[in-house]
Amino acid sequence: MFHKKTLRDVNVKGQIVLVRTDYNVPLEAVAEGVTAGEAGTGSRKASEALRISSDFRIQASLPTLQYLLAHGASKIILLSHLGRPDGRPERRLSLRLVAERLAELLEGRAVNFVDEVSGPEVEMAVDSLPEGGILLLENLRFSPEEEANSEDYAREIVDSTHAELFVQDGFAVTHRAHASTSAITQLLPSVAGLLLEKEVTTLEQAMQDPAHPFVVVIGGAKVSDKMPLIEHFLPLADQIFVGGKIAADGYTSSDPKVYVAEDFDTDSTGAKLDIGPLATMRLTDMVQAASTVLWAGTLGKVEDAAYATSSTILTELLGENPTQTSIICGGDTAGFVEGIAADKPDLHFSLISTGGGAALKLLAGQDLPGIDALEDA
Ligand code: 3PG
Repeated sequence: MFHKKTLRDVNVKGQIVLVRTDYNVPLEAVAEGVTAGEAGTGSRKASEALRISSDFRIQASLPTLQYLLAHGASKIILLSHLGRPDGRPERRLSLRLVAERLAELLEGRAVNFVDEVSGPEVEMAVDSLPEGGILLLENLRFSPEEEANSEDYAREIVDSTHAELFVQDGFAVTHRAHASTSAITQLLPSVAGLLLEKEVTTLEQAMQDPAHPFVVVIGGAKVSDKMPLIEHFLPLADQIFVGGKIAADGYTSSDPKVYVAEDFDTDSTGAKLDIGPLATMRLTDMVQAASTVLWAGTLGKVEDAAYATSSTILTELLGENPTQTSIICGGDTAGFVEGIAADKPDLHFSLISTGGGAALKLLAGQDLPGIDALEDA
């Protein structure tokens, strides 16, 4: 049972509500031959050359926003981070694109954007919002104070927005004790949003007593996040398959439960961009024999269709097996699976979570500071 207060436990009518979302969405370059990393050179033109390759996390935030609008919230101010800009403004990681996409998803409702997080510009933007207006602030991580969990930073946001209630709906960032997930809860009444409640409840239910064999598939690009997770899952899982960048970078394990991909598809420079056919066969065998599969992290560089083969095979294996519990975690992985499922409505998954590290920590029984900080029910 969810043990924190939610939106439904408070009166939002007439309130200015700060909502922490996780709009840490994958970006891709629009122009061919330019990668997202190369495009962010600081010019406006460069930021226009990017697009959101999966809006899964933006879509997932809609129920909370719709609830607030339907229940008469006066103004909705959205907070998020995007990427890891290391405490400095980086134009390609501006949230402006997210505001544009959110407005489309809200079917024409205006979503204002201000390229600051606090200060007079934010105050003016909030003051000029109409009743029921929505405003997205700039990337919280453009200042080092966000990750430092600075109470001053949180206070500046609260003061500039005149917020009266804080709603944590960014499930995917609740494993971080940052100013917008932790310090801010000291300053405002703080409750969970509907996405956060749904994710926690569903993940806890799904994993309470996983049917065995239980297979964990680990991939993705955030290598440092994944190594401790492999250790966490060793006592719980029957087998762990490791692909993605962590395998390409040479991760090894002496534990017989852990299989690390040994062959790869490479580009002309020899870069290992997807797991190879032998590893894919091994993965297929493991997954077909499993009753529960938890998948976190794509197995190759899926933004390039040439290296999405193994991840596509895994998506179809899981989606076509109605008797298996399949849990997909991680923003990029969820976006990838959603993309395939959009064209193949017959595929079924037990849960596609917006959370990567947060979901895995929750499943491993660890505390999530961004949830702990909310008011108890
Ligand atoms: C995620 O994508 O897992 C969350 O947005 C958290 O991002 P982070 O790992 O950069 O803190």
